[in-house]
Amino acid sequence: MKISVLISPLNADELFFTGKTTVVIDVLRATTTISTALQNGAKEVIPVNTVEFAMKVSGNAFGGQTILGGERNTKKVEGFTLGNSPLEYTQENVFGKSIILFTTNGSKAIVRAKFSENLITCSFNNLGSVANHLLDLNKDFIILCAGANGMFSLEDTICAGKLITELTKLKEEIILTDSARASVSLSKSFGKNISKMIAETEHGRTLIENGYSDDINYCAKLNSIDNVPVFSSGVIKNYEPKVEQSAN
Ligand code: MLT
Repeated sequence: MKISVLISPLNADELFFTGKTTVVIDVLRATTTISTALQNGAKEVIPVNTVEFAMKVSGNAFGGQTILGGERNTKKVEGFTLGNSPLEYTQENVFGKSIILFTTNGSKAIVRAKFSENLITCSFNNLGSVANHLLDLNKDFIILCAGANGMFSLEDTICAGKLITELTKLKEEIILTDSARASVSLSKSFGKNISKMIAETEHGRTLIENGYSDDINYCAKLNSIDNVPVFSSGVIKNYEPKVEQSAN
């Protein structure tokens, strides 16, 4: 199993992902929000890469079962029902709903990797479940960090490093590219106190300034959720193992 890490979606064309297994990480906050929404009973999350497309998709929906969620500059987009704080994605707000999600980096990273054969989202919250799922898949994979407008994000890379570390504990034959080794090294240096590390990142500081301090602690919780969000045919749902049909 070979693992590599991309620090930003802008480093790869969408066709690069064709047929690959990709894990998208946007700790602050899109992939944390996605795990939370699905954990709290959302039917599905539909990631989009523009607000205009979000509006268009929601215009075609009916019955009040579809809601718009997401942010611009960390704040809720005007006209949307929810922002991008995972704490808003409660059972009360999302149960049974399809959520159209637009975010500055995270939803765009997922859309960019849409041609992947397997496309999974990961955060600190569901890292253990994603590691086990990758072990079962037993394929080479790429970790795509959402980053920040094409730039490096420490929290995403450290989450990538922790995911890789988890896998190396569970499996022997793992080949790490230079970017994967660098992520592991960063996670060892900075990842001991996840909450403190996140609070000190550029994006963490912006969230605190904008009143989202509670999100930092929430996004830092390791293995608090046990789902594996999987993107297929334009929507993200919880992975559900196929049940073998009995012969009779
Ligand atoms: C993003 O996609 O850039 C983030 O999720 C932004 C945020 O809501 O903090």
